[in-house]
Amino acid sequence: MSQFLRLGVNIDHVATLRNARGGVHPDPVEAAKLAVQAGANGITAHLREDRRHISDVDMERIKDEVDAPLNFEMAATDEMVAIATNVLPHACCLVPEKRQELTTEGGLMVAGAHNQLAPHIGRLQDEGIRVSLFVDPVAREIEAAREIGADIIELHAGPYTDAQGDARAAELTRLIDGAKLAKSLGLECHAGHGLNFETVEDVAAIQSIVELNIGHFLVGEAIFVGLEQSIRKMRHLMDAGRGSA
Ligand code: PXP
Repeated sequence: MSQFLRLGVNIDHVATLRNARGGVHPDPVEAAKLAVQAGANGITAHLREDRRHISDVDMERIKDEVDAPLNFEMAATDEMVAIATNVLPHACCLVPEKRQELTTEGGLMVAGAHNQLAPHIGRLQDEGIRVSLFVDPVAREIEAAREIGADIIELHAGPYTDAQGDARAAELTRLIDGAKLAKSLGLECHAGHGLNFETVEDVAAIQSIVELNIGHFLVGEAIFVGLEQSIRKMRHLMDAGRGSA
C-alpha cells in the first residue's frame, strides 16, 4: 500500500495581498485555518529577511492558533534560528535567500557549506525541531544533506514545473531519482515549488515523496473558486496521481 502523501499549504501570498495595503485583510492565519478545514495536513510559511509577506507575529499566531503542524521556511541565519527556536514549529525548512529575488530561485548549496549550516541545524534539532533542507535533485546535495544530519530534504520542483515536453520529462526523472536516493539514505523526502493542477499528479506518483508544499498556485486559484475548493481539487489530483483516489 502506498504511503499517504501529505499536503502542506503555503499561505505566504495571502500575506502578500494583505501587505499590498498595509492592513490586516486578508489574514493569513484565517486562511491557514480554512486550509486545514479543506484538507491541508500542515501549514508552510516563509519568514523572509525583508518580511515582504509573512511577519514575525503571523508565525507566532499560526503556531498558537492553527491546529496543524507548522513548517517554518527560513534562511539559515542567526536571526531566523533565534526566532524559530522561540516559535518552536514542527519543522524548519532551510532555503537559500537573496534579497532581490522574486521567489526562492534554487536549492540550498549543502555540499561545501558544512561549517555554515551545521551549527544552525544543531540548534534547531536541540529544540526538537525537525530540519528540512530545500535542495535541487542532485545526488551530491542529497548526500551532503544526509551527512550534515538533516531529517528531511525538500526537492526543488521548480525546474520541473517550468519545463515543457521532453525537458519536463527529463526533470521529472531527476525528481524520481532524487527521491529514490533520499529514501535509500534514510531521509524523509518532500517536494515543492511551482506545483499546480497540471503538474502535481506526476510528482504525487513518486511514492518515496511523502509531502508536497504548495502555495502560490492555490492562493491564485482561490481568486476564481475560493481557497477551500482550490485545496480540495489539489488534494483530489494528489490522490489520483498517487493511485489512492
Ligand atoms: N517549498 C519551498 C521550499 C518554497 O520556497 C516554496 C515557495 O515559498 C514552496 C515550497 C511553495 O512554492 P509555490 O508557492 O510556488 O507553490
